[in-house]
Amino acid sequence: MHITAKELAALIPPDFTLGVGTAAFQIEGALDEDGRGPAGWDVFSAKPGAIVGGGSPAVACDHYHRMPEDVALMKQLGVDSYRFSLSWPRIQPTGSGPVNPAGLAFYDRLLDELLASGISPMMTIYHWDTPLALDDAGGWLNRDTAYRLAEFAAIAAAAYGDRVARWVTINEPATVTTNGYALGLHSPGEALLLKALPTVHHQLLGHGLAVQALRAAGVPGEIGMTNVYSPMVPNSINPLDKLSAGIMDLAQNRLYADPVLLGRYPDLIRAAHFFGSFEHPDEDMEIISQPLDFYGLNYYMPTKVAVGAGEGVIPAGMAEAMGDDLTAASGGTPFHVEAWPEADTTAYGWPVKPDYMGVALKEMAERYPNLPPVILTEGGASFEDIIVRDEATNRTFIPDERRLKYLSDHIEAALRATAPGGEAEAIDLRGYYVWSLMDNFEWSAGYNQPFGLLHVDFQTLERTPKASYFWLQELIEERNLAA
Ligand code: NOJ
Repeated sequence: MHITAKELAALIPPDFTLGVGTAAFQIEGALDEDGRGPAGWDVFSAKPGAIVGGGSPAVACDHYHRMPEDVALMKQLGVDSYRFSLSWPRIQPTGSGPVNPAGLAFYDRLLDELLASGISPMMTIYHWDTPLALDDAGGWLNRDTAYRLAEFAAIAAAAYGDRVARWVTINEPATVTTNGYALGLHSPGEALLLKALPTVHHQLLGHGLAVQALRAAGVPGEIGMTNVYSPMVPNSINPLDKLSAGIMDLAQNRLYADPVLLGRYPDLIRAAHFFGSFEHPDEDMEIISQPLDFYGLNYYMPTKVAVGAGEGVIPAGMAEAMGDDLTAASGGTPFHVEAWPEADTTAYGWPVKPDYMGVALKEMAERYPNLPPVILTEGGASFEDIIVRDEATNRTFIPDERRLKYLSDHIEAALRATAPGGEAEAIDLRGYYVWSLMDNFEWSAGYNQPFGLLHVDFQTLERTPKASYFWLQELIEERNLAA
């Protein structure tokens, strides 16, 4: 069971944003239209075996052609804000040099449509679809990509700065490094293991330079970035389980958050000379750790870590193959991700653990005393949906009770943890964005992991609201009544 929408609404503080999110490459389609250049992801996803079920992003949700319909569905839903990303190759086809006016115009139309519908725009500048020309020049292994991102941020600021309420510079650099460069599961498909580490620094530098570009342009919107955070939980009191969890915590969480929020890489990472393969100027850390107006956090699940080679379940984004290199780093101790036997799991196999939402927020508060206001920029769950057609009325229902409960429990946990007296009361929590508005192209999982509040029929492209959509609509109505 979960609490009622009315009870949940009563926990929501004033000025708390309820939103939904998407990313360009996952929904737009129209990859060859109106002058868009190719992205590394176009090429990666065409490789045999790269995408589960062979799903192609060519059409995706066809959002590029159905944008007004999608905004109308958000207006009906009643959300305060919509988080979306810019397609870099649509706007700047080769990632440097001239812009494509037709590409720029698409997001002009989107912004205008949102504002006319009373929906506040949150714009992610980089959500993984690097222009192919940049990937060909080394992608995030190349320091120059950070400067290209800053240039792109300046283009976005000049074009959209007057209308964007919140900016996210980059989304989940940890996933780009781990899946894209260490394991080869995402574009650009490099399996470099620890040799992927320069991509951490270059993405974070790109973030910092993008912040500078936005500030220099004087945009009035709030500026932040988004990191994913998964509390790492030792499987037992065995000190080796603890050590293993600590290494995962460093590699997946602190490696990305410490530089931004503390201005330095974790001591252990430095001591282990993980960064020995490349040097960076000291000034970089100042650029990376500039003050932000908010910090975006994606919370989906905790990760249970155990020593030994084991059979464990590896959640997407976590690293089975980090095995060998990290094993060496931990002095020869292999470890793996364990299943959570008592927990419900999503279609991905991710454990559903709303109780760890508070843990994640508490750990953040403890580690980062100067944490700016926090926005949960993503949270949600993939579950296989059942479509029920009522012959009598010819109406369709999608009773996605498990997704609805996931969202209710996680929003409740976040609100309670950050309320006065809560375990993470030090955190000034400003919002929660449901991932995702609609079922979409879930990267290497293709169309097999639906996260949407809207079901999308990928044959007809018809959108159908699920029970979770109507639940969020009710929550927002109750919240508005209580205000
Ligand atoms: C994180 C990513 O930002 C998003 O693109 C992805 O679809 C969700 N998590 C779910 O895996």
